[in-house]
Amino acid sequence: MKRLTKTLAMATIAMLGCFHSAQAEEKATETLTQKALKHEKLGVTVESANHLFADKYPLQYNSWKATSESTDRGSALEVDPRSVILWAGYSFSKEYNKPRGHFYAVTDVREILRTGAPKDENDGPQPMACWTCKGPDVPRLIEEKGERGYFDPKWAKYGSEIVNSIGCADCHDTKSEDFKEGKPALRVARPHVLRALESVGWTFENLDKQGKRVAVCANCHVEYYFKDKKDVTFPWKNGVDVSSIEKYYDDIEFADWTHALSKAPMLKAQHPDFEIWSQGVHGKNGVTCIDCHMPKVKDKDGKVYTDHKIGNPFDQFENTCKTCHEQSKETLQKRVAEHKKQVKDAMIKLEDQIVKAHFEAKAAWEAGATPDEMKDILKAIRHAQWRWDYTSASHGGYMHAPDMMLHVIATGIDRAADARAQLGVVLAKHGVTTPVAIPDISTREKAQKAIGLDIPKDQAAKDEFLRTVVPQWEATAREKGLLPPVEVQKEVTTPKAEAK
Ligand code: HEC
Ligand code: HEC
Ligand code: HEC
Ligand code: HEC
Repeated sequence: MKRLTKTLAMATIAMLGCFHSAQAEEKATETLTQKALKHEKLGVTVESANHLFADKYPLQYNSWKATSESTDRGSALEVDPRSVILWAGYSFSKEYNKPRGHFYAVTDVREILRTGAPKDENDGPQPMACWTCKGPDVPRLIEEKGERGYFDPKWAKYGSEIVNSIGCADCHDTKSEDFKEGKPALRVARPHVLRALESVGWTFENLDKQGKRVAVCANCHVEYYFKDKKDVTFPWKNGVDVSSIEKYYDDIEFADWTHALSKAPMLKAQHPDFEIWSQGVHGKNGVTCIDCHMPKVKDKDGKVYTDHKIGNPFDQFENTCKTCHEQSKETLQKRVAEHKKQVKDAMIKLEDQIVKAHFEAKAAWEAGATPDEMKDILKAIRHAQWRWDYTSASHGGYMHAPDMMLHVIATGIDRAADARAQLGVVLAKHGVTTPVAIPDISTREKAQKAIGLDIPKDQAAKDEFLRTVVPQWEATAREKGLLPPVEVQKEVTTPKAEAK
């Protein structure tokens, strides 16, 4: 360890206030957090058009644009078809992919089967909330329309407004004097995020430099649910660990959906990266997302700037891990790969147990089990799968907090065992004494067929939507100046060879 004194003694989020700056002053004017708490408009200007920053901030812009070099969007369902069964009855069973560069967030949410193929602004399966972590047009639109005006409509309503992928104004107050002078001026401009941060003692305005850096990632890399099927809400009231969030959802009797096989009231985890990071050794030692994913680097003239190509920190080893660790890249990479394997192996064991539990519960219903007999079983299935998803949905969790991940998975296996032990009794009571058959779910296609999905039909509708509706959205956005003219767009949005 070379540089530990550099970091603050920051502890877990549970020990609140660690990021507080000593000099946080009372301001005469109301802060953004105070306005957000009152559900007032923030009064901010959000310049969402990313291309407008290309000339003035070439180093940051070009490295930001280079997130487009991370193109791999492999199907996670193909890699692991068990998830199709785990999500039966919910749109994730149709399509779920690995994350890729920030550059693609808008493209990917348009293309994924989960958002359907709306024909007009009142059509389609999803609410506006589905755009919320895709780019800076979101805080702009919330400011323009108010939270109700933004969250109430269907997803297709503002397809022509949300066209810039995760960019400058998601993280910066680009209108501030500081930013004009080339300083970061970090800002959170999504009201629901300001409120959630406040609820765990992370009031944005009171955070120090390190805390603000993490908070910009917490705009999106967090667990949330759609309150009343509309409003993006972070379930942090009791804490951010797996049990606290589970308790939050249990107390309000929230379910994302009812499982198609077991009829259990299910929870879908999003991507609790911030939560998991805070419980890991780096989070507890004040090492932030930025230290690893956005290091300070030098351009060819020696000018220091922040590398905005957010991706795998091992690609920048000398500027990331190496600033604190003495081990070689190979040693650390091997260590992380081992953690990944341990976590994935345990995760698959848990998946196998939950898959069986869903089919056994289905068999129990069919054999005549009563809601009363099934109540505790369904709750155990809900908890087991929540614990699986909390770890599974957080990409990079095996790096950020491997011990905690293994512990959560172990508790999930315990809950799945509870469910299956009770299921054995109920099944026997209703005359089922041989093992319940599990269909062939060895590929994505087979698993999807086993739960009755018609993917080719959904895909055809999606293709039509992408061919007819999306070009109209883009044309309208161009007229408004949200996107650059077509000739310029190719130039500013195609990665340059020399871009980092
Ligand atoms: C996901 C969040 C995020 C996005 C998107 C983002 N930045 Fe940054 N930016 C940061 C962080 C974090 C820092 C470093 C803050 C610090 O040093 O405390 C930074 C630093 C900066 C700085 C200060 C100088 C430097 O390099 O450290 C400038 C200028 C800047 N960014 C411009 C931009 C521009 C222009 C865009 C859009 C093309 C952009 N940023 C997109 C998070 C972001
Ligand atoms: C406005 C929402 C938003 C913000 C802010 C944001 N992210 Fe992301 N991030 C996403 C989304 C959405 C994806 C997945 C994009 C896709 O696959 O289309 C993603 C993907 C990633 C990836 C995977 C990249 C790859 O190439 O595989 C990393 C790493 C990441 N984010 C880290 C960060 C860090 C670190 C910060 C803070 C500096 C941050 N993100 C801020 C929404 C956001
Ligand atoms: C100590 C360094 C470190 C810190 C701190 C850190 N990360 Fe990571 N993160 C990594 C590494 C390394 C990987 C990739 C591991 C691998 O090679 O598989 C990763 C992976 C990821 C991924 C998955 C990318 C993918 O394509 O699957 C996301 C998303 C991510 N990190 C976001 C964050 C966020 C958000 C934070 C802060 C809340 C954060 N990270 C903090 C080192 C770090
Ligand atoms: C800003 C400093 C800093 C950076 C950057 C950093 N680390 Fe660490 N790392 C730490 C500290 C502090 C610890 C905890 C040491 C301890 O408790 O003994 C740690 C611990 C670890 C551990 C041991 C974890 C455990 O559970 O015992 C691993 C592995 C590790 N880091 C890998 C990485 C990798 C890989 C990167 C780059 C992607 C990285 N670190 C970047 C400071 C850093």
